[in-house]
Amino acid sequence: MNCNKFLVIDDDPITRQLLSEILCSVDGFETDVACNGILGVEKARENKYEIIFTDLSMPEMNGLGVLKEVQSFNPHLPVVVVTGLSTIDVAINVMKEGANDFITKPFKVNTITSTVERILGEKKLLDQMRVRANYQETVERLNSELFKKLQKINLLQAINTEINAIYENSAIYQPIVEMASKLLLVREASFGIVEDGYFKIKKAVGVKEKDLPIKGTFFETLIKSKSYYMANPMEVNPLTNIPLEYSFVAFPFLVKDEVFALLTLSNKVDGSSFTDDDISLALTLVNNTALRMENNVLYEIVYNSLVNSLRALVISIEARDPYTRDHSERVMAYALQIAEVLNLSDEEKDAIKFGGYLHDIGKIGIRDGVLLKPGRLTEAEMDDIRQHPVIGDNILKPLMFFPKERELVRYHHEHYDGSGYPDGLAGEQIPLIARILAVADAYDAMTSTRPYRLAMSHEQALAEVMRNVNRQFDQKVVDAFLQTPVGSGVESKEDLLTSLGVESINGKA
Ligand SMILES: [Fe+2]
Repeated sequence: MNCNKFLVIDDDPITRQLLSEILCSVDGFETDVACNGILGVEKARENKYEIIFTDLSMPEMNGLGVLKEVQSFNPHLPVVVVTGLSTIDVAINVMKEGANDFITKPFKVNTITSTVERILGEKKLLDQMRVRANYQETVERLNSELFKKLQKINLLQAINTEINAIYENSAIYQPIVEMASKLLLVREASFGIVEDGYFKIKKAVGVKEKDLPIKGTFFETLIKSKSYYMANPMEVNPLTNIPLEYSFVAFPFLVKDEVFALLTLSNKVDGSSFTDDDISLALTLVNNTALRMENNVLYEIVYNSLVNSLRALVISIEARDPYTRDHSERVMAYALQIAEVLNLSDEEKDAIKFGGYLHDIGKIGIRDGVLLKPGRLTEAEMDDIRQHPVIGDNILKPLMFFPKERELVRYHHEHYDGSGYPDGLAGEQIPLIARILAVADAYDAMTSTRPYRLAMSHEQALAEVMRNVNRQFDQKVVDAFLQTPVGSGVESKEDLLTSLGVESINGKA
């Protein structure tokens, strides 16, 4: 028996009113409201409703609580969860708990009405089937539909997790095309960026990668509207200009309210048109990916600005002491050569590239009287100097971007036999990249002229390094150094920076 009533449970009065207005537009239906979960459950016990719409995040009793309570006294009453996009993962879990569907804020009228129509249709069928005693068969059919929907939602969740783990935007192009075509089951998909008046297709499935002009085309309308657009079967395919014989839809990717990329999907494998469910799945994927891409851009901006500030700090330290000019750059270059011989990972080489450059950044905290003293240092002054790895580590620590680089900065004066500073680590306790840097740092210091002594020759410096194997240095690292172009004497230290194409910080290679 139909009661033609919905119940809306939401603690936010605006959402409550908006949703109830939309629901009242369904012919012959009324809407009851409740301002919290407890009152909502009470109403659901006392009255008959066709569907309950409940907000997910509410104080005292949340949407999940409402769902469980309602299931306990009326397991057949459909419950639809209302959620913000940011809690979509939670909404998926709530569906697994037995919610009939979920809708996201802000509302789209046709999404809500089609959800209502679907649920009422299924409910009607269920009621009829119950009367005809074909209940089991109907439940199985509905269950299989629900299963398919859940499969898609699980796939979407897996895709979102994968996209969120990609930190470089260009690395997202391929997976987004593949995943979107898998999710929506289409034969053709393309992803491209909007640049210089063109839609430049970067990756595609079943479509040619090319640049298409935007002005006066379908893409211009799409970019201006900032909303997805589904082409009618009578229109031409905007990618080929051939009349469409199948469904075609395109989605804009927005960053800071500007369209920067487009995704097109067309030619569904089963020949059908895109449904509201398809669009809603694709929109969730597109919005999540756009957010990831925006975060990547912001991350890069923040990272680059930090890198530039730290570089400026290193330049200012080296400018204080002309005898150490370009020292950091050379140490980084020697260390990189050793890393090549030892076949280190790209991640470790990257840490050496920047961390090697930063290794003495803590010297900014050492006063000129000590740092620039031409003669022998007193024991107290040596203690001051020994603080620089810790000062450097403290500079990088709050920036959070450079965990590996911090290891280099903190441990580059540790000795293999444990006699170094600041922590007295020994052997393998010292990170390999820091053991590498120790050799590179010592070699460069010895082969550079200082106010109190002339530079050693390459051979003298090598002999000194080898004399200190297993005391100051790791045998494995010294062996590797001897195989590098500089360590083996094939390349002079002057030629090194030029050959590596490293930009010199002081304008000289
Ligand atoms: Fe140092």
